[in-house]
Amino acid sequence: MTTTYRDLRDWLLMVDEMGELRHLNNVGWQEDMGRIAEMLAHTDEAPAVLFDNIPDYPPGYRLLIHGNGARRRLAFTLGLPTDIGREALMTRFLDMVNAIQPLPVEEVTSGPILENVLTEDEVNLWQFPAPKWHQEDGGRYLGTGCLDITKDPDSDWVNIGTYRIMIHDEKRAGFYISPGKHGRLHRDKYFARNEPCPVVVVVGGDPLLFIASTLEVPLGVSEYEWAGSLRGRPYQVIRGRYTGLPIPADAEVALEGFAYPNETLLEGPFGEWTGYYASASRQEPVIHVKAVYHRNDPIVLGCPPQKPPYEAHRYRVYLRSALLRRALEQAGVPDVVGAWCHEAGGCRLLNVVAIKQRYPGHARQAGHIASQCRVGAYLGRIVIVVDEDIDPSDLNDVMWAVCTRSDPSRSLDIINRAWSGPLDPAIRPGDKGFNSRLIIDACKPWEWLEEFPPAIGPSPEYRRETRDKWGWILRGG
Ligand SMILES: Cc1cc2nc3c(=O)[nH]c(=O)nc-3n(C[C@H](O)[C@H](O)[C@H](O)COP(=O)(O)O)c2cc1C
Repeated sequence: MTTTYRDLRDWLLMVDEMGELRHLNNVGWQEDMGRIAEMLAHTDEAPAVLFDNIPDYPPGYRLLIHGNGARRRLAFTLGLPTDIGREALMTRFLDMVNAIQPLPVEEVTSGPILENVLTEDEVNLWQFPAPKWHQEDGGRYLGTGCLDITKDPDSDWVNIGTYRIMIHDEKRAGFYISPGKHGRLHRDKYFARNEPCPVVVVVGGDPLLFIASTLEVPLGVSEYEWAGSLRGRPYQVIRGRYTGLPIPADAEVALEGFAYPNETLLEGPFGEWTGYYASASRQEPVIHVKAVYHRNDPIVLGCPPQKPPYEAHRYRVYLRSALLRRALEQAGVPDVVGAWCHEAGGCRLLNVVAIKQRYPGHARQAGHIASQCRVGAYLGRIVIVVDEDIDPSDLNDVMWAVCTRSDPSRSLDIINRAWSGPLDPAIRPGDKGFNSRLIIDACKPWEWLEEFPPAIGPSPEYRRETRDKWGWILRGG
């Protein structure tokens, strides 16, 4: 699959032509942007919004929100037809992922990102629109729809992850990375050696690269190469002057600098994807920004978390569900007929897997692997396994299976001391780090599968026939 847009600006032009973009002027960063972002997040198929003429900033310094918050735009970002249905989107996405051959970046010496290069004394992070996104936020977050680029000190692996960025002052920004994330593995290695960690933060980049940066791309694989293969074109990069890290040549804004061992500042609180300010404020590492690169009239990409679902959940529901199904198949679980990472759980806390049971223990195998594979391991909570006649995306159907096919004394497993972190609202401050998992086997019991009471209700074909014949009753007239 090849995408048809060159960069974020090109993407914006095309999304505007699709009628999916609203232009807003004179909206304040103090409160109103956050209010609008919350409204969009909690409205189905809401448009993207581009703020311009933002008070306190030069005209032309823009901020985009809700870019991939609707299925049409997600499909466009992936290079798929914009009228694609949900199942087809997931299947095509998986086909694309299965065909990935990591595509190395192409190094170039010029590009729009070099239109403005400010170093050392010239650096001023307040130059770019950075809203206070939620009422209780402890600071202004320039990085929400950002790409944090780091390199493994022991290999050539360059990772890109979206880790939030709070401005401390003109030249310093806090960056929070949860334990176990790839950027954190890199940073911890530098700090363990008492060395500074080089980092580049892009705040306004290619929409597909942003999606990649928020997904569970395998350990050791660069999101540059993963997304480059997905779009059928390598990413062009320039080398950062101070760190040597690769920076997208057509990005909007990039901050380059170093985080130092043993230096922290108070970061947060910040409204998080669980729907709480759960990690409160903590001492976190700080990036000393040495250079700022930006295009003329730069566009900052915002993706502020909200109580689920917000923009990231609205695209992850398809992509993470597809990746979970693939992970189960790759782990050797046969006959997985569906998987769904529910938006209500932020696509992490409540995941459902549907299988066609083939042997004793099959359901438990699927449940435990779903809870511990890379897609499901971090900050999960509940995994439900259902039979193939249940639609894993339909909570009514799923809960019907839980209520009628499971029996608590036989159907529940708990895994203790699983991978959680500071964002887990159900774990008390001071105890954060681990959590437990509930696996609900809501399949008909294998031992008496054939004797299980037959379910009422038509087969899908019978139901379709009924609707063809009498569907007019529902439509009235
Ligand atoms: C808008 C947004 C903000 C995020 N902020 C953070 C963050 O501040 N810290 C963090 O560890 N993960 C954050 N994440 C989740 C990571 O981006 C995600 O887990 C990603 O897979 C990390 O990349 P990695 O797999 O290379 O570690 C955020 C995701 C989104 C969509």
